[in-house]
Amino acid sequence: MALMRAAVCHEYGKPDAVRVEDGVEVASPGPGQVRVRVRAAAVNFPDVLLVANQYQLTVPTPFVPGSEFAGEVVEVASDVRDVAVGDRVFGAVTVGAFGEQIVLSAGDVRPIPPGVDDRLAAAFGVAHRTAYHTLRSVAGLRRGDELIVLGAGGGVGLAAVRIGAALGATVTAVASSTAKLEVAAAHGAARCVNHTAGDLRGALRAVLPGGADVVVDPVGGPLAEPALRSLRYRGRFVTVGYASGVIPRIPLNLVLLKGVEVRGIQLRDFLTHRAEDAARDDRELLAMLADGTVRPHIGATYPLDEVVVALRHVADGRAIGKVVLDIAPSVASAG
Ligand SMILES: NC(=O)c1ccc[n+]([C@@H]2O[C@H](COP(=O)([O-])OP(=O)(O)OC[C@H]3O[C@@H](n4cnc5c(N)ncnc54)[C@H](OP(=O)(O)O)[C@@H]3O)[C@@H](O)[C@H]2O)c1
Repeated sequence: MALMRAAVCHEYGKPDAVRVEDGVEVASPGPGQVRVRVRAAAVNFPDVLLVANQYQLTVPTPFVPGSEFAGEVVEVASDVRDVAVGDRVFGAVTVGAFGEQIVLSAGDVRPIPPGVDDRLAAAFGVAHRTAYHTLRSVAGLRRGDELIVLGAGGGVGLAAVRIGAALGATVTAVASSTAKLEVAAAHGAARCVNHTAGDLRGALRAVLPGGADVVVDPVGGPLAEPALRSLRYRGRFVTVGYASGVIPRIPLNLVLLKGVEVRGIQLRDFLTHRAEDAARDDRELLAMLADGTVRPHIGATYPLDEVVVALRHVADGRAIGKVVLDIAPSVASAG
């Protein structure tokens, strides 16, 4: 049986509940499965929530956290036809990416486009797919629309800035620091608003006197309502996440008076319930990755041994774009 070095969560809690250990067992691929040597893994906000057992689903301990990876296929089950040993692949899972190896269904890995390195491939999936489905298929963003993105320096937010601009929208980025807003501007935001100055509604009215067509909100909390108030008639507000830790409550009379729509996306459910739209979006998005229209911004990189620091970086809302772990490729074999 193969053994690996991996981050393990034995007890739910803060990021320091995670320890890096040797001798973690790697399963052999079952029917339809492949084994991937993980070269890089991205840290996502839900990884922090899963370790804290504050996510929508509970993973029993002990488990290897990590939901996004890129690497190389090292073994395939005998019935697998579309994936071969040596293929460079990336993918998303619920847990298991913060280890040197991962075993998963062959249908859950996709080839890394030529010219895209492992870190970029690892950083690409969840944030960019969420942002793309949100803008393309949930918000119905059109060329020429005015788009407001909250949390614009974070993983999903920065992806929404870049993709929104690429789809022809004029993007107003909202974030808490000059550093985050500078990166958002470099990724296509036409206007930047620092919400720590207070009065977000007034600041948005000043830059968007005619209102916005779409708001993308991965943050929630007190920013949601002033952003929704900044929509014009028939505008769409898409709730994506609650990184602030607070689920906002919107007075329904606002929806009536402004004639706006509040929509939501949960990536997992979108992929299941809107499979055709999801497949079309994925094709379009992969083409944008391949031709360089979309490139994840990697704000910080850590070795696997510093997984706790990497998780804290994301948990504290300090990440700019994506945080990536470099995973050591060596594998020990026992028995
Ligand atoms: N619906 C879906 O399918 C889906 C998919 C992926 C992610 N999500 C969710 O979307 C949210 C954002 O994910 P992400 O990957 O973009 O996270 P991220 O990179 O950590 O960015 C989150 C942003 O939220 C803001 N924030 C405000 N208060 C915060 C706090 N107390 N702690 C952390 N951040 C805080 C920060 O922006 P400022 O500093 O600028 O205020 C930060 O940049 C998460 O809740 C995640 O679970 C949902």
